[in-house]
Amino acid sequence: MKIIIIGANGQLGTDLLKVFSSPIGTKNRWQVIGLTISDIDITDFSKVRQMIEEKKPDIVINTAAYHNVPECEKNPQEAFLVNTLAVRNLANLCRTFNIKLVHFSTDYVFDGRKMRPYNEDDTPNPLNVYATSKLAGEYFVKLIPDHYIIRVASLFGLAGCMGKGGTNFVESMLNVAKTNKTTVQVTSNITSSPTYTYDAALKIREMIEDNYPPGPYHLTNSGYCTWFEFAAAIFRESNIKIRLEPREEKEEEAGVKRPLFSALTSKKLTALRPWQEALKHYMASRK
Ligand SMILES: NC(=O)c1ccc[n+]([C@@H]2O[C@H](COP(=O)([O-])OP(=O)(O)OC[C@H]3O[C@@H](n4cnc5c(N)ncnc54)[C@H](OP(=O)(O)O)[C@@H]3O)[C@@H](O)[C@H]2O)c1
Repeated sequence: MKIIIIGANGQLGTDLLKVFSSPIGTKNRWQVIGLTISDIDITDFSKVRQMIEEKKPDIVINTAAYHNVPECEKNPQEAFLVNTLAVRNLANLCRTFNIKLVHFSTDYVFDGRKMRPYNEDDTPNPLNVYATSKLAGEYFVKLIPDHYIIRVASLFGLAGCMGKGGTNFVESMLNVAKTNKTTVQVTSNITSSPTYTYDAALKIREMIEDNYPPGPYHLTNSGYCTWFEFAAAIFRESNIKIRLEPREEKEEEAGVKRPLFSALTSKKLTALRPWQEALKHYMASRK
């Protein structure tokens, strides 16, 4: 089985590449091809077609996205190009060539009003450009028979501490601690489900190997917390003594509306370990 991972040096892409390339625990022999943006830009539609025709994969996993939420608000054309139209192109190609498409979406497709974790049956209602462009991308993936739409949230993965594919919240907090600050203010009115990309990658391999049915899936570590609680756990775990002050994110200051509660749960997948245990594993691995 030949599998292509797009966005292979991002957080999720790095762990997917690792997991599918590892012989440990796998049921299949995978020929894995990891592609970074310098190999393929998904907004270059004809090049993507050429790549698919040349490589003839059985499965395409697309982790590429334009996901800086405030930037998406300022550049909606770019957001819809990467998160919607490029995904439509990929989905059409996968249908034409009979390829399974595994695509990632976000907890932000929900508006947060439920105030309890969202499952796959809940109705999305995106509040910002990023989330709307990702939901529109989902609709195109849904049109092809062999697909997974995997909604993840608040990702942290080792690529985030290797200077590859941007950073993550854990690394941002650890970087703050390296400055001389004695106090750090962290958002206390936004709740989500932190997700370790290594755990997510292992589950995705299981889903593919065990032939889970197509459709949408919510995939996060179990439990949820505010950014403030997440920061407290990060500092506790790394023995850093720093004063944490809660602050409320306000739409007027942030320039973008976010769901205040976007924890996810799944009706279809067995729960991943709690986010606190995943954080411990991440902290040990980054050393
Ligand atoms: N990060 C989160 O907290 C979060 C939360 C919910 C959902 N998600 C979703 O989860 C998925 C993976 O996120 P992630 O955190 O792993 O992202 P990431 O670390 O930023 O990785 C994405 C990768 O895609 C590449 N890329 C960006 N635009 C591309 C393009 N036009 N063509 C080809 N490659 C492109 C990026 O390259 P460059 O780095 O060079 O741009 C990067 O290597 C995305 O679909 C995202 O929307 C993420």
